[in-house]
Amino acid sequence: MRILIIGSGGREHALAWKISQRADVEELYVAPGNGGTASLAVNVAIKDSDIEGLVAFAKEKAIDLVVPGPELPLTLGVVDAMQAAGIPCFGPVGACARLEGSKAFAKEVMQAAGVPTAAAGVFTDRASADAFVAEHGAPLVVKADGLAAGKGVIVAMTDEEVKAALDLMFDDNAFGDAASTVLIEEFLVGEEVSLLSFCDGTTALPLPSAQDHKAVFDGDKGPNTGGMGAYSPAPILPDAQLDAMADIVTRPILAEMARRGTPFKGILYAGLMMTADGPKVLEYNTRFGDPECQPLLMRLKSDLVDIMQACIAGELDKVELDIDERSTLGVVLTSKGYPGSYPKGMPISGIEKANELDGVYVFQAGTKAQDGQILANGGRVLCVTALGRDLKEAQAHAYEGMDCLSMENSQIRTDIGLKGLKRLGLA
Ligand code: AMP
Ligand code: GLY
Repeated sequence: MRILIIGSGGREHALAWKISQRADVEELYVAPGNGGTASLAVNVAIKDSDIEGLVAFAKEKAIDLVVPGPELPLTLGVVDAMQAAGIPCFGPVGACARLEGSKAFAKEVMQAAGVPTAAAGVFTDRASADAFVAEHGAPLVVKADGLAAGKGVIVAMTDEEVKAALDLMFDDNAFGDAASTVLIEEFLVGEEVSLLSFCDGTTALPLPSAQDHKAVFDGDKGPNTGGMGAYSPAPILPDAQLDAMADIVTRPILAEMARRGTPFKGILYAGLMMTADGPKVLEYNTRFGDPECQPLLMRLKSDLVDIMQACIAGELDKVELDIDERSTLGVVLTSKGYPGSYPKGMPISGIEKANELDGVYVFQAGTKAQDGQILANGGRVLCVTALGRDLKEAQAHAYEGMDCLSMENSQIRTDIGLKGLKRLGLA
């Protein structure tokens, strides 16, 4: 088979790592890829937003399967464009990727499908937003409607903070078009967990639960990032509850999207808050999470390409997922300063040494290979991911792997997995 992966993060390195294990893969390309994918596949210098360029490349190489990683190409309609060119592509069409691309659309679909979520108002002008705030009062959560690289959500604990958030979105235009529509949501309290499911338009097959760590510093302090580490399973959503949870947060969305004539295929990622009133959906992503993908794929024993092809063919009902019973945990290493400004170009040593440890793999993200060296080339640089008999052992192995690495101007969180260990009574 000839396969093209789109993207350049740790998620795409994990996709390449998993897919390259399949015996009949003759050619594997990653556009644009990173220092890690360069060792498993051929990196192609095409941006993830260059849909025309990607389709032309896929045609030229007679690609059998395209696997887009990030949200941007999905919302730009890469699946529709590949389909039009007769090239199988795993993921949602643009009309379905809107579930991630527009929070107002996602809210409307959730309400139509009867999925539990925070009450919210949707506003396109400042005066109506102010009136809503005057009526409801802080704490409230202010969200830019469109894609904002994980930065378009402001949890405002006081009326002043709500006002500052609205200033930023409406008046300062800090998020551009992404905030021409703004949601103001009820503030929810609870532990967060993610449920990702393979979908074929009608059938949803949930993966085990995963938990991300969005804040940059230990103890969930500091600004939100793309994700500083993740593990699976999360004790707050055990395997025995996956199917029942998919009935609440995933399958109603599939039914609603099918009813609208745009069946959902690909990965539907439900970001949940487990509140005292039960689970509520905070957001949908329409792709694998990064870094959730790294620990999840390390647990998936089934062939990933077979599953993706079953999703495309609408035959997921014939598939069963074979999942490793063990736990996995990934710790992200970033450049100091991320998610603000950060330096680049630092050499990274010890990756091979870490990879030699049993059940440890370093998935690279913001890196590039140059003159036989791996250099930092982004905010999130890599994610050391490890297997263990249980969460505690997976955590220990991941940090042992991290200890093998060295990079100047780096930062990590030292408490990935702690919430899960506390829930198990082990910390
Ligand atoms: P989102 O991009 O919608 O997942 O939001 C990013 C983060 O903001 C979430 O991971 C939560 O920590 C927080 N958040 C989002 N919505 C709410 C809410 N309604 N109540 C409390 N926190 C929220
Ligand atoms: N880690 C969260 C995301 O991929 O959106």
